[in-house]
Amino acid sequence: MHIDILTIFPEMFDGPFSHSIIKRAKEKSLADIRLHNIREYSTNKHRRVDDYPFGGGAGMVMMIEPIINCIEELKKHRKYDEIIFLTPDGALLDQPLCNQLSVKTNIIMVCGHYKGIDERLRKHIITREISIGDYVLSGGELAAAVLTDSLVRLIPGVLGDETSALSDSYQDGLLSPPVYTRPADYKGWKVPEVLLSGHDRKIAEWRHEQSVERTHIRRPGLLNTDNYEE
Ligand code: 6GU
Repeated sequence: MHIDILTIFPEMFDGPFSHSIIKRAKEKSLADIRLHNIREYSTNKHRRVDDYPFGGGAGMVMMIEPIINCIEELKKHRKYDEIIFLTPDGALLDQPLCNQLSVKTNIIMVCGHYKGIDERLRKHIITREISIGDYVLSGGELAAAVLTDSLVRLIPGVLGDETSALSDSYQDGLLSPPVYTRPADYKGWKVPEVLLSGHDRKIAEWRHEQSVERTHIRRPGLLNTDNYEE
């Protein structure tokens, strides 16, 4: 998977992309993630990337030219499956959407700032708009990092069997069951007996019951399978 991220703050990705799963995916060449500083594509001599909104009002709007110039340059080298704009008014990211996007080959992510990007980019260039939750972030960068992580971990070969994405919460529409490790008795806090029994079928049943109960109590909306079809 090849991901190009357009941002005015490329340094914001240094931390999240140089550790753990994403780091390993890059090292194994399973994910090729490149950052592009939108400012470098400004045609303006002051390297401006934003301007006042037509019609007035507070806040600035990201201009068309720097973003389009960058995308046009990228399009010379690849055919893109999706050009995603990260925005709080986009479609809510959930596991089925992650799964759907994880099979794409080339993706562009555009991180917005200020009051957003010129609407004409959204109309003519952007193929999909995604939000990572009903709250407001200062910009699209953290959302792009979240989306990238959620996709990269689904690329075959990125996770080992021991951490297979198939056992993730949400992957079967249920939350994960509780987990325990040694010691079996911490100052009287005991691990459920069944997990120590060595009885694989009983353990699997217990885990499934716990998943269902947890989902019922914490996220009953997930049990409505209509919400969870791809
Ligand atoms: Cl994608 N962007 C911003 N600025 N805020 C958000 C978001 C995105 N998703 C949730 N909140």
